[in-house]
Amino acid sequence: MAQRKVHEDMDEQVCKVKNRKLYLATLASVLGPMSFGFVLGYSSPAIPELTKIEDSRLRLDDNQASWFGSIVTVGAALGGLIGGWMVEKIGRKVSLMLCALPFVSGFTIIIAAQNVWMFYVGRILTGLASGITSLVVPVYISEMAHEKVRGTLGSCVQLMVVIGIMGAYLGGLFMDWRWLAICCSIPPTLLMVFMSFMPETPRFLLSQGKRREAVESLRFLRGPDAPVEWECARIEEACDEQGSKFQLSDLKDPGVYKPLVIGIMLMIFQQMSGINAIMFYAENIFEQAHFKQSDLASVIVGLIQVVFTGVAALIMDKAGRKVLLIISGVAMAISTTAFGVYFYLMSLLPEPHGDLAWMALASIAVFITGFALGWGPIPWLVMSEIFPVKVRGVASAVCVLTNWSIAFVVTKNFQDMMNLLTSAGTFWLFASMCILNVIFTMVFVPETKGKTLEQIEATFRGMSGP
Ligand code: BGC
Repeated sequence: MAQRKVHEDMDEQVCKVKNRKLYLATLASVLGPMSFGFVLGYSSPAIPELTKIEDSRLRLDDNQASWFGSIVTVGAALGGLIGGWMVEKIGRKVSLMLCALPFVSGFTIIIAAQNVWMFYVGRILTGLASGITSLVVPVYISEMAHEKVRGTLGSCVQLMVVIGIMGAYLGGLFMDWRWLAICCSIPPTLLMVFMSFMPETPRFLLSQGKRREAVESLRFLRGPDAPVEWECARIEEACDEQGSKFQLSDLKDPGVYKPLVIGIMLMIFQQMSGINAIMFYAENIFEQAHFKQSDLASVIVGLIQVVFTGVAALIMDKAGRKVLLIISGVAMAISTTAFGVYFYLMSLLPEPHGDLAWMALASIAVFITGFALGWGPIPWLVMSEIFPVKVRGVASAVCVLTNWSIAFVVTKNFQDMMNLLTSAGTFWLFASMCILNVIFTMVFVPETKGKTLEQIEATFRGMSGP
């Protein structure tokens, strides 16, 4: 009874909220993920050019090219650690503005490169910025948004990542690697400018004891008629219950260790699905299927990602996270199994055979669609929803570090894995990871749709929540 009253109360209050400024702040912040998409996508058009470039100081051999692609993930893992510290010390907003510096300086070093080492430094710096962004932006958005739109707004993070990736692929069709790097510096520059007009999150301000600023921030985000005092009191109540500083002994608290394990597992499963290996490999597959322009093939992969990540964003707050993760996991399990079968059949044939190409193409399309609908956006979204405010920085840092480290291991060792396990074996390994991720989701992942961050926290502690 009391629970229903709380819900009715909440619905009534949320009705008075105006979302325009919240959308504006989200739009400014997602220039970060867009920049990080440009970093991820940059290597795909740049590598083929740099392996053939006339200037021998800049020419990449195969080994250097694979470092040029994967070293970004090392920078990003490091960025996750730094980001976790920054969000707690200097806040969400300033951390995000500062990300622009390594983004722009990294691209500047690439543009001015005199040797391959300068490329590496540029890639590490842009990777570092990507890692910080992948931590800060989901936290920034989930702390500003209210529960009615948090899923959709949080999914915009991944949507902008894939738009950035596609932007880089498209740009690569018309520009050389230097001009492309110049264009890649535009989104982070805009990020810095636009973010300077946006507020810090109310939850961070309250955790710092800055109540007046928190109320102002809420007033900006929710409009003049919204019950900001009511929301402020609700957040304060949750902060008071927790105390303010993270201590190691907090790890014994189910409200901390349960979401931490779930967050880490989501990141491991996202990367062990093989997404980055498959995106890497897409060009070769399209080549085998007799596509003349394999760079156009990358654009098609990019486009599928954008469309279905957009669909996921639209339905996230209605369908819920769990259902989408399960559908996504099943689609990826089926497509990686089919991909393995394709490689297996190919290995039986004495000569490469074009007739089976449709099987490879269909597998890639289903895989990318499946990933975009669930395992692409949701780990980042759920990461930003499940941690109590006092451990949000540290716990998100552990998740980001896990994600990018596994991304590095998979992309750097993919070729060796194919040699050791055969191509079919490698894809069946990805398939088995996808089956595990479905089971994991069904058993352990809680549904966060429609709940306030404070209610989600209470669920882990086994309480019914404010
Ligand atoms: C993943 C990246 C991946 C990208 C592709 C992100 O959610 O974390 O590793 O490259 O999606 O769309």
